[in-house]
Amino acid sequence: MKLNIAVLPGDGIGPEVTAQAVKVLKAIAMEFNHIFTFNYGLVGASAIEKTGNPLPEETISICKKADAILFGAIGNTSYDLNPDAKIRPEQGLLGLRKTLDLFANIRPVIAYEEILNKSSLKKSQIKDTNILIYRELTSGIYFGEKKLSDDGKKASDICEYTQDEIERIAHLAFKAAHSRKRKLTLVDKANVLESSRLWRRVIQKMEPQYPDVKTNYMYVDKAAMELIINPKQFDVILTENMFGDILSEEASVIVGSIGLLASASIGKNHAMFEPIHGAYTRATNKGIANPIASILSAAMLLDHFGLDDEAALIREGVDKSLKLHITTPDLNNKYDNISTTKVGDFIEDFINHPDETNLN
Ligand code: IPM
Repeated sequence: MKLNIAVLPGDGIGPEVTAQAVKVLKAIAMEFNHIFTFNYGLVGASAIEKTGNPLPEETISICKKADAILFGAIGNTSYDLNPDAKIRPEQGLLGLRKTLDLFANIRPVIAYEEILNKSSLKKSQIKDTNILIYRELTSGIYFGEKKLSDDGKKASDICEYTQDEIERIAHLAFKAAHSRKRKLTLVDKANVLESSRLWRRVIQKMEPQYPDVKTNYMYVDKAAMELIINPKQFDVILTENMFGDILSEEASVIVGSIGLLASASIGKNHAMFEPIHGAYTRATNKGIANPIASILSAAMLLDHFGLDDEAALIREGVDKSLKLHITTPDLNNKYDNISTTKVGDFIEDFINHPDETNLN
C-alpha cells in the first residue's frame, strides 16, 4: 500500500517521540513491502517562532494532501504563564481539528498486564481494563463563542451542540461497542446542562438502531469516580469534548503512564493520529520522553487503513518492550538509562526480527 503521511512533530518532546513512530513505520513499510512517504509540517509554538502562525497555510495544505497525519505534541509553558497571549500554540491543534473536521477522537485505555504494578491503583482494581473513549472533538465549549468584557472582569465560553454533531460520533461509538463488549456509556451532566440533555435525548433515540448494544448513562462527576474505583465496568465511553479531555487524562492513571496513551482523530475525509500527552517542555531533548504513545498512535494509523497484521506487530513489539522493561523512566526507575531512542530502536528491531529480539 502507498501512504502519504503528513508528520507534524510540534513542540517540546513532540519531535523526539514522533521520530520513533516514524522509524517504526519505516520498519513496517520495509517488512511488509509498503511505500510510506513522510512530509513534514510546522505546528504550534515552533510554527509561531518561525512564521508567527501556529497553523501555517503550508501545514494545512500538507495535511489536506496526505492520507493520514501523525501529530506529535503541542504547547509551551511560556504561553501558559501568560493569560493575555493572543496567539497560542494550542490554536494550531484546535485549528487542525476544526479545519479537517476531525470530529471523533478515539482513545483506548488498556491496563497492560506487564506493568499493572506501575499504576498507583490496586492491581485487582485495574486488571483487564480495556476501555475505548469516544470524545467529540470539534464542538462544545472548546469552539463555542468566547467573550471577555471590556473591563476584563467578566468572561464566558459557550457550550453548544447540534443533533447532527452528536449523531455522527454516536454512530461510530455504537458501532465500536457492537464489535466489542456491546456496552456504551454516555457520560454527560444532564442534571445541569441543556447541551447534555440534548446528548441524552439523541442517544436514547438512537438506541433502537443498535439493539444488541446495552446503553447506560452516567453523570461526569460519577464517571470520574467510577473510572478509578471500577474501570472494568466500562467498554465504550461516549462523551463531549471537554469531559473527554479530562476523563481520558484521568484514565492514564489506570494505565500507569500518560506516555502510553495513543489516539486517533477521525473525520469524513481526514484522519490524524496523536499521543494524548502534551509537549512536556521541561523534558525536551533529555531522552526521557516515552515514545510508546506515539508508536501506538502509528499502530492506530495502520488500523485505519486495515493493515491489521502490521498494527499487531507494532503492538507485539510494545508489549515485549514493556515485558523486558525496555522503558523510559516514567515506567522504570531501575533502568533509567533507557532513552526515548532506545525504546524506538528496540521496537524497530522487533519488527525487523520478531523472533529474535531480546534485551541485548
Ligand atoms: C488533548 C490536549 C488538547 C485538548 C490541548 C493541547 C488543546 O489536552 O489533546 O487532550 O485539550 O484537546
